[in-house]
Amino acid sequence: IKKIAILTSGGDAPGMNAAIRAAAKTAMAKGMKVYGVQRGYMGMLNDEIFPMDGGYVSGIIDRGGTRLLTARCLEFKDPKFRAIAAQNLKKRGIEGLIVIGGDGSYHGADLLSKEHDIKVVGIPGTIDNDIKGTDFTIGFDTCLNTILDAVSKIRDTATSHERTILVEVMGRHAGDLALQACIAGGGDGLLIPEMDNPIELLAFQIKERRKHGKLHDIVLVAEGVGKVQDIEEALKQKINTEVRSVVLGHVQRGGTPSGFDRVLATRMGAKAVDLLEAGEGGVMVGIENNKIITHPISFAWDGERSYDFRPDYELALLLAK
Ligand code: F6P
Repeated sequence: IKKIAILTSGGDAPGMNAAIRAAAKTAMAKGMKVYGVQRGYMGMLNDEIFPMDGGYVSGIIDRGGTRLLTARCLEFKDPKFRAIAAQNLKKRGIEGLIVIGGDGSYHGADLLSKEHDIKVVGIPGTIDNDIKGTDFTIGFDTCLNTILDAVSKIRDTATSHERTILVEVMGRHAGDLALQACIAGGGDGLLIPEMDNPIELLAFQIKERRKHGKLHDIVLVAEGVGKVQDIEEALKQKINTEVRSVVLGHVQRGGTPSGFDRVLATRMGAKAVDLLEAGEGGVMVGIENNKIITHPISFAWDGERSYDFRPDYELALLLAK
């Protein structure tokens, strides 16, 4: 493969730029011609494809967001539009594509490689950590640290007012961010969509702790559980302390990527190019036991999660008591 393209798709994640940079520089070092696609699959469809040079990826390793811009493209579910997009690559002689994004982006990648004989490699880039076949996704670690920073600040005011504060974090249908933020942030309660979350139990634990002199409660709530305002209302009926809720929102998606995310993104970006050079497509890269590995791209939705959250969940609940 002599010509490859790179795109970012779905929600942005800190570290995406480091992956773009690593893939582009590795490909250039191997003598490949590299193209950038702006705005994900939307830009592929609209022919927003440009030749990339080294300067384009210079000075971006420490920048959050994605220099290539991103979008969610519903049209890509339609084979007619996928054919147009594929043709935009083919007319430039581009045979390989690197897609940096979440599992929604992987479905598009899988179909492209099956229908149009384009070699596609997926790199997991999402704060949610919800992709099977990898212990970590790019952006998760940075996002976790952003949440921890917020939790510390929220604890100051929660203690001063002796309040219970519910902190809603992102994660779509996954509870990884809430779970790990509860462990690392010393949370006092945890609600995640993978488990039943009886509000009676949470209320009981809060009342017990208050009897023993606790001045605040920080409860991590994954967005997949439901509206935090509804949980706030339900909890207010069951406890005597004041309750507030905070939705951290899109602040969680921004910021300078952590060292971990930059190294992860760099290793994955380089690996994606190695795979394309070897003529491999229809695969995703992941990290398992600190090794960069590959799976068929469909593993992202068909496979087993490599992160077993249960022991961490038990630990979080034990320490929250
Ligand atoms: O997938 C990343 C993510 O931030 C999820 O955690 C969240 O549910 C969603 O994207 C929000 O999407 P948008 O920015 O389109 O509202």
